[in-house]
Amino acid sequence: MDNRPIGIFDSGLGGLTCIPYLIEEFPEEKMIYFGDTKRAPYGGMEISTITSYSTQITDFLVQSGVKMVIIACNTISAISFDTLRARHPGIPIIGIIKSAAEKTAKICTSDSRIGVIGTKATVASRIYDRFIKNANRDLNVFSLACPAFVPLIEEGITESEIMDLTIKYYLDDFIAENKIDTVVLGCTHYALIQKNIERIYPGLRIVNPSQEILSKIRKELTGLGLLAEKSDFVNTFYASDLSEVFTAMIDRIFENTDVHVKFKSFEIQEGEFA
Ligand code: DGL
Repeated sequence: MDNRPIGIFDSGLGGLTCIPYLIEEFPEEKMIYFGDTKRAPYGGMEISTITSYSTQITDFLVQSGVKMVIIACNTISAISFDTLRARHPGIPIIGIIKSAAEKTAKICTSDSRIGVIGTKATVASRIYDRFIKNANRDLNVFSLACPAFVPLIEEGITESEIMDLTIKYYLDDFIAENKIDTVVLGCTHYALIQKNIERIYPGLRIVNPSQEILSKIRKELTGLGLLAEKSDFVNTFYASDLSEVFTAMIDRIFENTDVHVKFKSFEIQEGEFA
């Protein structure tokens, strides 16, 4: 048993889409979340910048005493996972991509037409294609970067015509031309517009990595004897810019629960990376 909190982070509020699944599956676990809201989106940044920023955050979480780090961000998982693991070999670090890719491979056949949507960095890395094809080389995978989604979502613009038009702008042709029947939401922010996508394209099968990561977390926590018992630690949500959208979203996640949370602003200084 280990009552230390789990560290979880994203470039912004996308990683919060993992939290409802986490608290339902692991009610005794406590967490420290970090959203780099001030510097998001990461998806169009240079590889070295993404790795530098995510190293700062991982160092911060490790220094805060977490027992595990969950990278609730596809972009960081695609670009910086190996660096982060090498820097902190003593602590389990879990990326969000592998479990989602494996799930996709499991539910699809060679007749399926899989569309992975994500940030520019994730799509350029081709990591989903690699993992999906490693599991089954007969699968058809198409990818598309949708860089306008994250800024809109960070602004809290989800249930709106602007978002629906943006979704159609990116996905209408992509889905029609490639006859896509399964979409992987390869960016944790996109889980916040899953309902819009389902409404606009009924019948499309959707894989949500924020949900698929749970089995991997359970395996690691159990295997390493890290599961928690009840504890008094208060779930803490840090943001580099404690925006109203960020705090409101967390309030909504916890509104009908008896889980306590606290918010903290924490600005990581540029150039702190060593
Ligand atoms: N939520 C992140 C992801 O899963 C990235 C968003 C961004 O900062 O561009 O890729």
